[in-house]
Amino acid sequence: MPTRPHVIDEMISAKAIAARIEDLSREIQQEFKDTDKLIVVGLLRGSFVFIADLVRELALPIEVDFLEASSYGDSTVSSREVRILKDLRGAIEGRDVLVVEDIVDTGHTLTHVRHLLESRQPRRLKTIALLDKPSRREVEIKADWIGFEIPDEFVVGYGIDFAQRNRNLPFIGKVRFLET
Ligand code: IMP
Ligand code: MG
Repeated sequence: MPTRPHVIDEMISAKAIAARIEDLSREIQQEFKDTDKLIVVGLLRGSFVFIADLVRELALPIEVDFLEASSYGDSTVSSREVRILKDLRGAIEGRDVLVVEDIVDTGHTLTHVRHLLESRQPRRLKTIALLDKPSRREVEIKADWIGFEIPDEFVVGYGIDFAQRNRNLPFIGKVRFLET
């Protein structure tokens, strides 16, 4: 699909992301230090790089599972309806669960996912988002841990896409649209 002409300006460097993940993983380890097993749930697809780096910093017994909720499609406009496209493989009843999201924007996705997973009665359910855009919020929700709070900009890289592109950038970049 064609995208509007744009350039990408670096917003958060790979080094800054790595340093932040080290700090966050220490806090997460502290929170779950007594766990027999932590199920780390990545929300596809945007969190795949974040979850890969995060779990390698966690010295805890963990399992990894994935869930896919419908997102923007190929536009930059959020849709309010959240659908589950791919559910977890494993049961989470009575388990410790950490949901890993790339960005909390309007808040609809994380709210929906949290309600869904809470209905399965985990022992403990916590959420982490790499990025948070609080100024865009439509439903009140805050992840338990946030990597970086950012302004209302469309970002890509480090797993996050614009029309499926640029997930492989090692940093977080801001998309700047060019006048045509
Ligand atoms: P929410 O339901 O509006 O909070 O949207 C969350 C989802 O929208 C995130 O998981 C992302 O997949 C997507 N999203 C939000 N902002 C951006 C962005 O700046 N770039 C790419 N995807 C985004
Ligand atoms: Mg997403």
